[in-house]
Amino acid sequence: GWVRSVRSQKEVLFLHINDGSSLESLQVVADPSLDNRDLSFGSAVEVQGKLVKSPHKMQNVELKAETIRVVGPCDAWSFPLKMKERHPLEYVRQFPHLRCRNNTLGSLLRIRSEATAAIHSFFQDNGYVHIHTPIITSNDCEGAGELFQIEVGWARESVEKTHFFNVPAFLTVSGQLHLEVMAGAFTHVFTFGPTFRAENSQSRRHLAEFYMVEAELSFTESLQDIMQVMEDLFKTATNTVLSKCPRDVELFHKYIAPAQKVTNVIGKNYLKDFFFFLFSCRISYNEAVEILKQAPQTFTFKPEWGCDLQTEHEKYLVKHCGEVPVFVINYPYDLKPFYMRDNEDGPQHTVAAVDLLVPGIGELCGGSLREERLPLLKSRLESVTVCLNYRYLDLRKFGSVPHGGFGMGFERYLQYILGVDNIKDVIPFPRFSHSCLL
Ligand code: 4AD
Ligand code: MG
Repeated sequence: GWVRSVRSQKEVLFLHINDGSSLESLQVVADPSLDNRDLSFGSAVEVQGKLVKSPHKMQNVELKAETIRVVGPCDAWSFPLKMKERHPLEYVRQFPHLRCRNNTLGSLLRIRSEATAAIHSFFQDNGYVHIHTPIITSNDCEGAGELFQIEVGWARESVEKTHFFNVPAFLTVSGQLHLEVMAGAFTHVFTFGPTFRAENSQSRRHLAEFYMVEAELSFTESLQDIMQVMEDLFKTATNTVLSKCPRDVELFHKYIAPAQKVTNVIGKNYLKDFFFFLFSCRISYNEAVEILKQAPQTFTFKPEWGCDLQTEHEKYLVKHCGEVPVFVINYPYDLKPFYMRDNEDGPQHTVAAVDLLVPGIGELCGGSLREERLPLLKSRLESVTVCLNYRYLDLRKFGSVPHGGFGMGFERYLQYILGVDNIKDVIPFPRFSHSCLL
């Protein structure tokens, strides 16, 4: 492991070593004669000895060393991490190649790994088929034009600047359209992979590259079904994470998240009570606009029917509902992507969309019923410009069924359950400027 602390006393030498398997380090007790100039904070060591019961309350076992070999020395003076210092997240973000050896990032990355497995298990246990949706695609699923376009390597001078494929190709913004294909055969499918958006990545909740969990369900006619899966996914995955790595989670709730935020997320009486209240708040977009119009505060963006909900609006709605997650359903037709199902509901025309807003973050999940009726989908496509493979319409010709699904931002999920303010602190490698693409 790597040395986390060295304490050399007259009679005894104490080391704490950590191999990344848990937040706790292993205490090594050695004869001072085994001390060595290279035994410093950060160095890599190989220790042989006897694992014995520890007399200390804080640990079950300790290692009585017989030999200590420094495998890789570490210059503690120039090493950016210091022994016994609780470095702020902003500080360690400057060292993307070293920060995983810091306690906080170590815990975060173990939690991220457990959460990934928990999400896969949730879907597998509920009969979903996992699909690897393409990363390179010619579709702009969201129709928002936030695409990274793929071109042949600019370093190859000889190659004419041309498309590699015979059509423009992009990094995917969502696997949804490909999942819809698969839902037409497997009924319930999911994907969990990297997604890319060329949008403002300087915010605390946007990344250019992030992971999205997406599910698609056939034979589904109600938004309730979609909301139920969002809720079950959240609860099951969070419960698993909390039971698999309680100490890692505790570190965040103790040192990273302000106390009040944590009680909102986890609740003093642990999860049972918290989950009971959670997810019971469901309002329509129309109701949301009314709530905002009646708010005692003034907003930078005046709330008006037909306008998108801004961060300040989302914050207010969450506060209005008591700082708990809020489902907002049935958004204006003109605000949402082409694939959402028309509610055919008169002058205030809406689609069957649902966003899940959570405290401190805003939108955690976005989903909808899909327009499965060919004539309606065709006429919608006439009025919007979207990069779309025409074969999408085939799905509405050959055994089309009512269906729907959603996407959850994985990094926002981690931010929410751990109370992390900046999204760059929940990814393995932070990119805090365009010149730092490690
Ligand atoms: O709401 P979005 O854009 O929904 C879709 O892409 C749908 N096609 C998903 C589906 O129905 N299958 O994105 C889904 C979620 C958001 O709610 C948000 O949590 C996250 O993805 N997200 C981002 N996370 C980090 N950085 C960004 N730039 C993000 N953009 C979206
Ligand atoms: Mg959305």
